[in-house]
Amino acid sequence: MRLKIQGGRPLEGVIRANGAKNSVLPILAATLINGGINILHNCPDLRDVTSAINILEHLGCKVTREGKDVIVDSTVVTRWDVPDELMREMRSSVIFLGPIIARCGRALLHTPGGCELGPRPIDLHLDALSKLGAVIENEGGAISCHAEDMRGRDIILAFPSVGATENIMLAATACRGATRIINAAREPEIEDLQQFLRKTGAAVYGAGSGEITIMGGRTSFDTEHRVMPDRIETATYLCAAAAAGGDLTVKECEPEHIGTVIEKLSDGGADISVSGRTVRIKARQRLRAMPFVRTMPYPGFPTDSQAQLMAAACVADGATVFHESIFENRYRHVSELERMGAKIKVSGRVAVVEGVSRLHGAGMMATDLRGGAAMVIAALAAEGESTIGEIHHIDRGYEKIEDALTSVGAMVTRE
Ligand code: UD1
Repeated sequence: MRLKIQGGRPLEGVIRANGAKNSVLPILAATLINGGINILHNCPDLRDVTSAINILEHLGCKVTREGKDVIVDSTVVTRWDVPDELMREMRSSVIFLGPIIARCGRALLHTPGGCELGPRPIDLHLDALSKLGAVIENEGGAISCHAEDMRGRDIILAFPSVGATENIMLAATACRGATRIINAAREPEIEDLQQFLRKTGAAVYGAGSGEITIMGGRTSFDTEHRVMPDRIETATYLCAAAAAGGDLTVKECEPEHIGTVIEKLSDGGADISVSGRTVRIKARQRLRAMPFVRTMPYPGFPTDSQAQLMAAACVADGATVFHESIFENRYRHVSELERMGAKIKVSGRVAVVEGVSRLHGAGMMATDLRGGAAMVIAALAAEGESTIGEIHHIDRGYEKIEDALTSVGAMVTRE
């Protein structure tokens, strides 16, 4: 399947933000822990969500999905393994490690290996879990954990990894005593996970700061939780309007979570206003080059928005410099954007984008989720028709992207 985009039309209208992919995945994994009924609202309809549900069902949970609601009954869990083919479906399935250990006292997973962004080490996850008392064997891609006597303690993360922070929080709910995560990731999705865990009865404090404390103990309450809005999806649509022009409003989002993206686009001359849970961008003139963009852990500029902002920078007046400090290999969209006439020079982790006055339509292949979104943005801004193949990458993180964009005046079809 591919997307066909007729570029050169401004985006005018209103889009509603969906629930956050990066929040719903750890929360779905966390539903294993309480052994009860978990009602989740605002779940996006994404391939990764289906994959997480497949894993829960494999483990013995009963899952029902009605529109945006997912109900997980984890009363009975019969297995503690995630087979290779289910792990492969979703790169972030390692997030099941902590909850399976917490629920079953053991776990058997297969290593996720690399992904489109380069190697995906999980050493920080495994080191931390073994410090909490899990005995881990990691052989031939299979990770086997036994955790009969888990005890809370201080864990200092060498890097504020999002996934490792979440896995530690989840496993620590089953530890005796207190676990303190020092240099924890501060992403908003971690606060959402904390809120969910508290509803199960867990005592978790400090998410959103660099230090999180989890008091192990009873976590057996049924829950009902609304997944937070997807900040990266919102940022993507703002970048699209900045590149293609127009007057676009994103509703039911959390503008505070994308302060750095709003700041860059404003620096580029876009007129952005925020009111409560609504953000509006008016992009009536060509964007100007933006000041140095360096991706950093939250609250820094998100690596997950780098490619989309770069697509906007491709048509800005002047040169914008990017530094990707989180992932080694996150410029694979560059060669595809060049097919449209973008001028980008990459040297290691630095990319210099010399804006051009016009991009032209081209045939492209999505290289990864956010890189694919960048191609969509560039195609919306370009003259003529573009096609984007391998869109299963895009579908991992955007719910019916063609419908959202068509509803605000773009010409996008899936074929
Ligand atoms: C999460 C997000 C992803 C986002 C990323 C960074 C989810 C499902 N995914 O991924 O969209 O791009 O945060 O904001 O929430 N690292 C190690 N050892 C480890 C773990 C990580 O070296 O054990 C390194 C990684 O290689 C990477 C960096 O730390 O260079 C950041 O990774 P991390 O924050 O863990 O990202 P994820 O949780 O995988």
